[in-house]
Amino acid sequence: MRIVVLTGAGISAESGVPTFRDADGLWEGHRVEEVATPEAFAADPHTVQRFYDARRASLAAVGPNAAHVALAELERAIGDDLLVVTQNIDDLHERAGSTRVVHMHGELRSALCSYCGGRHRWDDDLVDADPCPGCGLGTLRPDVVWFGEVPYHLDAIIESLVACDLFVSVGTSGAVYPAAGFVQQARAFGARTLELNLVPSEGSPFFHESRQGRAGDLVPVWVREVLAG
Ligand code: APR
Repeated sequence: MRIVVLTGAGISAESGVPTFRDADGLWEGHRVEEVATPEAFAADPHTVQRFYDARRASLAAVGPNAAHVALAELERAIGDDLLVVTQNIDDLHERAGSTRVVHMHGELRSALCSYCGGRHRWDDDLVDADPCPGCGLGTLRPDVVWFGEVPYHLDAIIESLVACDLFVSVGTSGAVYPAAGFVQQARAFGARTLELNLVPSEGSPFFHESRQGRAGDLVPVWVREVLAG
């Protein structure tokens, strides 16, 4: 059985990484448009770099939770039949042991050269960083997909949605496209669809089944079900 799992901020919430649309609607005190758009970066690169530098630095203080661990266990059991597509820019899936992870909104621990397009593994601050180590010319920016930019790896993701038998969404509000549309695409090509989220989401009506609860509880239970056949 081929499975695609789409994850969102909710899967990392129990690790202490804040979500985007809960509570006050602010992301660490900022409206997302203030820090997560190309326009914001053009107008005030310093603020945007410092914002993402703080997010990158905070990764050291968090770790994967039971939901990430369960998905890594599932990969160990079924290998290539599992693909995790994440909207998250943290590295908690990898730190739990998952290797088949597609970061459609980019990664905090990567820097992108705005001149040559080169990517560099990055664990330090980007504010006031030297020019791109590849071309020596361009400014490095966070390698994340901002609003108005095209998500990464869409062709490969669509291919996996077309081919999968089960599509599972974990901890995402279903508010941001194209990820919010994946359930309908997978379903149109014959997949069964399951949502695991704290509360009913905007996307809930599109799923065959929707379970409510914490990812750290729901994901291990679901993985056990899959492994029990
Ligand atoms: N377990 C499961 N779900 C949870 C938990 C939890 N412990 N805590 C919160 N949630 C749910 C919330 O109820 C919400 O529906 O996770 C969802 C998180 O939604 P968002 O904050 O909107 O995050 P996400 O869907 O990942 O956002 C998508 O929007 O700002 C952009 O690029 C950013 O990738 C992000 C995209």
